[in-house]
Amino acid sequence: MKAVQIKPDIYWVGAIDWGVRDFHGYITPNGTTYNNYLILDRDITLIDTVKHDFSEITIDNIMSICDPAQIKNVVINHIEPDHVSSIDKIMDYCPEAMIYITDKGKKGLDRHFDTSKWRFTIVRTGDSLSTGKYTVMFLETPMLHWPDSMMSYIKEAKLLLSQDAFGQHLATAARFDDEFVECASHSDLDEAVVDYYANILMPFGNLIKNKIAEVQKLGLDFDMIAPDHGVIWRGAPQKVIQDYLNMANGKAALRVAIVYDTMWHSTEHMTFPLMQGIQDEGVDCKIIKLRATPMSIAIKEFWKSRGCLIGTPTLNNIMFPSVAEFLTHLRGLRPKNRITGAFGSFGWGGGAVKDAYEEFKRMGLESFEPGVQVQYRPSAKDDVACYEFGKAFAQKVKEYHTKF
Ligand code: FEO
Repeated sequence: MKAVQIKPDIYWVGAIDWGVRDFHGYITPNGTTYNNYLILDRDITLIDTVKHDFSEITIDNIMSICDPAQIKNVVINHIEPDHVSSIDKIMDYCPEAMIYITDKGKKGLDRHFDTSKWRFTIVRTGDSLSTGKYTVMFLETPMLHWPDSMMSYIKEAKLLLSQDAFGQHLATAARFDDEFVECASHSDLDEAVVDYYANILMPFGNLIKNKIAEVQKLGLDFDMIAPDHGVIWRGAPQKVIQDYLNMANGKAALRVAIVYDTMWHSTEHMTFPLMQGIQDEGVDCKIIKLRATPMSIAIKEFWKSRGCLIGTPTLNNIMFPSVAEFLTHLRGLRPKNRITGAFGSFGWGGGAVKDAYEEFKRMGLESFEPGVQVQYRPSAKDDVACYEFGKAFAQKVKEYHTKF
């Protein structure tokens, strides 16, 4: 590949990872990209690097427009390895380049590389770097999503380099959102945005709202958002900001996700009358069997739905392991604005449904108790109880949904 111009004298020089399917445990069925950018100005400036496996690719892309030895500045917006782990290879070409980074970024980088041979400038919000005709202003975004994170803004180009924020895990020949929707679809792109937000940014809704408000208060004027994953937003950058605000404010579909696992199909059997009860209340329903579904997809389906029913058999007096894993993962993502319930089967002693409700309480999620349980095999009477619980839960979800 070669560099792709995104603004006058500003180029994408990143790498496309068609093959990655497991991104630190997050399933990426469409691969991803590691975007970084080069400002070809009086002082040539590289914004971010790429994952180490792709060092040669970004260096080739840089070489398609300039000699990497001419790079004067390297801006590091975030030190997670997918963006910084080729910095040593880059610095081999331009050892005298100045690295612009936050204080926490520098401290983190010190733990990954021998940084003693490199030059650093520690930056804070409002600091800027003149590259010639362009001025790169820095905007710290701590915990969006690491303590070191920041964005860079180029006023003269009306360009926000947003790092992980507004990204998507999409490996595509298209570099821009409008190109992507022409050859694929708006819904594929929207789905990729929700998937990324649910699995990476769900815990940070309040921070996102505050940061967007800060950007608006600073009056930053931009017509393009260039994230470090996926396509660049040039068609309608305000739309993705609004999508983020909606999600941060708790937007979800009037829908119930039934997330379950099963041993001998009793808990699985319960999903059918539950689904029927939910649908008879006019509420959509999505059923996810955990052992058949990657975790990140189950998380996304949870996030898209206003309500969630967890189905778990009791195994050795506690929840089924895959269900416990899902709920532990979910707790780390600190979900909000969702209502929950639980159901499941047991043999000689229950415990799993109670465990699930305790997990909901630990997460601070509203829940609808006491759920429904059956011993061994669901009988016709149990089917009726499941159906009625599904209806009652759907009514609760509808009521809860009116708050948003
Ligand atoms: Fe894409 Fe937080 O790294």
